[in-house]
Amino acid sequence: MSYQYLLFEKPEDKIALVTFNRPDTLNALSPELIQEFSDILDEISRDESIRVVILTGAGQAFAAGADIEAMSKFTPLQIRNYVAKGHEALFKIESLPQVVIAAVNGFCLGGGNEFAMACDFVYASVKARFGQPEIKLGIIPGFGGTQRLPRLIGKARAKELCLTGEFIKGEEAVSLGLANKVFPAEQLMAETMKTARDIAAKGRISTQAVKQLIDRGTEIDLRAACRLEVETFGMVFNSSDAREGLTAFLAKRQPDFKGTRES
Ligand code: COA
Repeated sequence: MSYQYLLFEKPEDKIALVTFNRPDTLNALSPELIQEFSDILDEISRDESIRVVILTGAGQAFAAGADIEAMSKFTPLQIRNYVAKGHEALFKIESLPQVVIAAVNGFCLGGGNEFAMACDFVYASVKARFGQPEIKLGIIPGFGGTQRLPRLIGKARAKELCLTGEFIKGEEAVSLGLANKVFPAEQLMAETMKTARDIAAKGRISTQAVKQLIDRGTEIDLRAACRLEVETFGMVFNSSDAREGLTAFLAKRQPDFKGTRES
């Protein structure tokens, strides 16, 4: 499939790179871009050769949020549908069997920050600026900002960011838990690729299980979540990857994971 507002590349074996590509608008998230993004996620979910996805932005921004120009012309029904489409795309990221890393290169505002928060984790450039500035436009976050943000950084900090619309830098994003690490701009992609490569070399079954357990488990009570871990451990243990990992350790060699379920 070809895309107009996104770049879709496979820079290395097992790794996909998706780039928001409307740099003239700081990668504003137009309805068309969100539709393409949703389509790309479907394509990725079917592609077993991809193990890790990196999401980034072309130019000065990761994404500067919803497309204000397009939005200003929406009817209430159109805005409702636009917001619902955004949510749908973000839940697709969380449902992907692949790990998704956001490499935040610049402005990461509004919907941009909401897209980054739906990724499994975020690496940031020193040039990154995070924020939920919708309040300055007289509106509110619409792609999960009032919901994922407090779950990530706590209610009081989320309220402060959403109520002031202030921008914060990478270091502060790290201290809040919005980003995991911050790098000099020119090193961001190399460092993200290094981590992507590292994860891509691990067993498919175990990486998928970790992602799903952490996502699902943190939404339910601890006892039920731990039961889920017990059951999932049994399933993971029954994989050739588990046999390979344990055998390789005892044989003092590197494991060669194949990612099949049966032992
Ligand atoms: N939607 C549509 N277009 C946007 C946009 C958005 N969210 N953010 C930036 N753009 C466009 C600008 O209109 C401008 O277009 P132009 O060159 O045709 O005038 C271009 O991108 C560059 O933006 P500009 O504002 O000139 O850059 P800047 O460096 O002075 O400021 C920002 C950068 C991010 C601070 C500023 O663009 C901004 O505040 N954007 C909106 C952020 C926002 O409120 N997001 C939430 C939306 S709900």
